[in-house]
Amino acid sequence: MRVEIYKDYQEISDFASSAIIDQVRQKPDSVICVASGDTPKLAYQKTVEKAKTQQISFSEVHFIGFDEWAGISPENHGSCSLFLREIIFSPLGISEDHIHLFDAMASDLDKECKIMDDFIYKIGKIDLMVVGIGMNGHVGFNEPGTSPTSKSHVVELEETTKSVGQKYFKESQVLTKGITLGLQHLLDAKQVILMANGIHKADIIRKTFQNEISVEVPASIIRNHKDSLVLLDEAASSLTPKDLNL
Ligand code: PGA
Repeated sequence: MRVEIYKDYQEISDFASSAIIDQVRQKPDSVICVASGDTPKLAYQKTVEKAKTQQISFSEVHFIGFDEWAGISPENHGSCSLFLREIIFSPLGISEDHIHLFDAMASDLDKECKIMDDFIYKIGKIDLMVVGIGMNGHVGFNEPGTSPTSKSHVVELEETTKSVGQKYFKESQVLTKGITLGLQHLLDAKQVILMANGIHKADIIRKTFQNEISVEVPASIIRNHKDSLVLLDEAASSLTPKDLNL
């Protein structure tokens, strides 16, 4: 694991977007798993800009969506699917057969998990995952208590996730479950970038890095990944003791 601390959100987004561009430059048919959320949004926008100015084609890239709110339509503005389509897939002109998202409206969500796991098994490895961290330490919808060997699964969301999640929606939503890739996928990915910015993330970042690696803070598992990069802004790293050599 490597940790880089930059001044602010602009800077971590700039760094993350360059890493995405480099990945695709080196391997045009990369498989990239992307989380949605406020954290990676600017990195994706910068990726789109850089792809255009540096003429990097994403036509061979396969994108996987990390997670989705169960029962929320992909047309709903707050869905992870629509976020990813609007912010990154459509601007990059990704074709439908290169977009791999959970169908969170499916009647059989376990089957959706199997479809995703079979696809990941078939392609071999995810080259790059770009993830944020929730206020309770989740990554994707891997909530506290999730097994490090989990693959795709359906999850009962914690209260924190349900209440914080309202920020993505125009109108208040009943959020109960999520569907998500598992922590094993994160550990198996060739490279993982975890981003966090803002003072509101400072306490969970402290818990992620100061305490023992624990299922109670799922993001802490990233410390077991040999090729993980943690991008923090100064505010998010401000409560983490400096002697941890972050
Ligand atoms: P955020 O969400 O990027 O909107 O803060 C992160 C998460 O819950 O994983």
